[in-house]
Amino acid sequence: MSISIYYFTGTGNSLKISKELASRFEDVQLIPMTAAIRNRVISDSDTIVLVFPVYMFGLPRIVREFVKKLSKQMRNKYIAAVAVNGGTIAGTLLLLDKKLKARGLQLSAGFSVITPSNFIVEFTVEEEEIKHIFEASKEKINEIASVIKSKGTPEIDRGTRKDCIFKTGILNKFLAFLIPIMDTTFKSTHSCTGCGICAKVCPVNNITIKDGSPRWHHHCQQCFACINGCPRNSIEYMKLSVGKKRYHNPYIKLEELMKK
Ligand SMILES: Cc1cc2nc3c(=O)[nH]c(=O)nc-3n(C[C@H](O)[C@H](O)[C@H](O)COP(=O)(O)O)c2cc1C
Ligand code: SF4
Ligand code: SF4
Repeated sequence: MSISIYYFTGTGNSLKISKELASRFEDVQLIPMTAAIRNRVISDSDTIVLVFPVYMFGLPRIVREFVKKLSKQMRNKYIAAVAVNGGTIAGTLLLLDKKLKARGLQLSAGFSVITPSNFIVEFTVEEEEIKHIFEASKEKINEIASVIKSKGTPEIDRGTRKDCIFKTGILNKFLAFLIPIMDTTFKSTHSCTGCGICAKVCPVNNITIKDGSPRWHHHCQQCFACINGCPRNSIEYMKLSVGKKRYHNPYIKLEELMKK
């Protein structure tokens, strides 16, 4: 079987999970969703897998865009998804299934993989705990690989019914409109050196450097790659990030996040 894994990542967790999953297959391609969108999503593989983080109980905007670019030729393919999250997946994968169905496609299998949360406001995980979480995820990835190999269709992973209705169905629907402009709450501080790393790690080129500091252009994904990737911790998310530890996946180099 041939498999294409399309990933989106802000701080590397989804890329780490994608690489782990890819290592369980022989004929496999690992493609950033951003590149696939630019080049139209065409795949010769018989199986396609989407790997992405959960944002505000739902899908990153880029995943919605990716689904819109999937051609109808994908109808006879096996489509699976892995929603990488910090513990509250709610109805994210059901929402993805709904979006696919609107295009005449369907989610054959959807899995939740829990990782450290990169939502800076609540980030508290210590180094040892991070290692432990990724060791523990290997078992789930083995399970996912074996379902995909057998083209299984288990029940899609989801949170409680209440979370699916309120968190994904209502709250996410409302927040989804605000996400692109939520970068108006980002500010760089006097410690910024104008190095441009934040612009390089932004997966959607939403940042330019002007007069030695970053400017955000309001087509943000809220991936937090810029805040977490700045080597001088110079980007703040209102006052909510002040003094908070920054995070990027310890198994993924910053340069790997610059591939788009
Ligand atoms: C703006 C934002 C919102 C998030 N919302 C959720 C959420 O609703 N549920 C959850 O479990 N994790 C949430 N997370 C955590 C991420 O899904 C999680 O850390 C993921 O591993 C990040 O993947 P990445 O490193 O590939 O970007 C959120 C993170 C951010 C930055
Ligand atoms: S990465 Fe940090 S120091 Fe470098 S330009 Fe961006 S905000 Fe400034
Ligand atoms: S501006 Fe920052 S949070 Fe927004 S998409 Fe770019 S890297 Fe992610």
